[in-house]
Amino acid sequence: MKPTIDVQRPIIKTELPGPKAKEVIEADRRYVTPSYPRPDYKLVAEKGYGVWIEDVDGNIFLDCNAGVAVCSTGHCHPEIVQAISEQASRLIHMCGTDFYYRHMPELGKKLNEICPIEGETKTHFANSGAEAIETALKLAMYHTRRQKFISFFGSFHGRTLGALSLTSSKKAQRLGFMRQALDVIHVPYPYCYRCPFNKGKSNGKCCLGTIEWIENRIFNTTTPPEEVAGIVLEVVQGEGGYIPAPVEFVREIRRICDEYGILMIVDEVQSGMGRTGKMFALEHYGVKADIVCIAKGIGSGLPIGACVAKSEIMSWHKGAHASTFGGNPVCIAAALKTIELLENGLIENAREVGNYLKEGLEKLKDKYDCIGDVRGLGLMLGVEFVESKSTMKPNPALRDKVETACFERGLIILGCGTNSIRWSPPLIITKENVDVALEIFDDAIAASI
Ligand SMILES: Cc1ncc(COP(=O)(O)O)c(C=O)c1O
Repeated sequence: MKPTIDVQRPIIKTELPGPKAKEVIEADRRYVTPSYPRPDYKLVAEKGYGVWIEDVDGNIFLDCNAGVAVCSTGHCHPEIVQAISEQASRLIHMCGTDFYYRHMPELGKKLNEICPIEGETKTHFANSGAEAIETALKLAMYHTRRQKFISFFGSFHGRTLGALSLTSSKKAQRLGFMRQALDVIHVPYPYCYRCPFNKGKSNGKCCLGTIEWIENRIFNTTTPPEEVAGIVLEVVQGEGGYIPAPVEFVREIRRICDEYGILMIVDEVQSGMGRTGKMFALEHYGVKADIVCIAKGIGSGLPIGACVAKSEIMSWHKGAHASTFGGNPVCIAAALKTIELLENGLIENAREVGNYLKEGLEKLKDKYDCIGDVRGLGLMLGVEFVESKSTMKPNPALRDKVETACFERGLIILGCGTNSIRWSPPLIITKENVDVALEIFDDAIAASI
């Protein structure tokens, strides 16, 4: 949908939520599940174009969340719309699990080229991040004939029962679902700002307490390495707080996997597809994975997930795993066009504008005692709110207040972790947009403290 005016700044012309928005919210309350984890503020979207979202009352917001890191190419990018429309007029569905069409091998070939995995790969197509993770879990169990997994506190890998066994970013995701479906042991994530081992970084390096914990404690007690199928890792933890793992840590995880025959499963659902200024976040680490899970940003808003694995690992029997809709031709057309746009400038833009945004956020950190940490890569940046820099006490209430104050001023951002705000704008965002966003963020913080 093209804007009818040349938008430079948000335009808020009604109270929020406006009258039409209120009607939608009321109908939603009545007919839609209450389980969605929506923030305190209420946005009712109607149209999207580029970095702008228009609500049902005609208010225009600057979107620095991109539908939770999904609309990588911006809202309704004209080339994505064209690719989807052309494909929709030719073939919408034919069930790739039973028949063939060119789109699956085309995207599989492209993923073989770009995924940070050594050697040839094969891809299983799904419809979401959680499904891509389910595929990885099944595949790892099948290939290794082992049943246990290691994942990290603060991680988010989805809400289906297998993925939920890995997920540990919030109590609400687990409460009511009793025991884990899978045998997963959780270990501390290397969150150096709040080092789980109270050591922090010395000489600028991670204390590697988790590595020690895995090798010397859990491998010798509850979880013998011979029984571990995979270690599932977000190299930049997403829902947990936008926390990049230190390079030395990720390399040690690779070493452990090699030493004990464990598969390294990297969840790039949120961090992948150019968001960090490289196609995949793992590329910042000089390490290769055995299995990579992708979703969100790959389809520019269409539902597609992919589990990419070394060919020799993805060698299971016919019927072992499949999905009716997974790898639908329309979604793949969107994905191929998305990758083309990423390679032709958007990854570069994420790097450049991401650095610019980070510099601006760091200035705000110097200005406000309530910002404890600014971190991240490319356009995947986290800002952590604290009571003060000296106490470092998490301040979730202030984070929520700032989030709402931004919304009232026409800026869409979303929390992550207990007390952080994530910046995950569309990768088309410009420095001019960032100037506007930072000005609003600054004003919202000033009004909230
Ligand atoms: C890292 C990561 N993995 C998996 C998922 C699950 O993806 P979906 O919601 O598409 O199932 C998410 C969603 O936020 C995610 O951030």
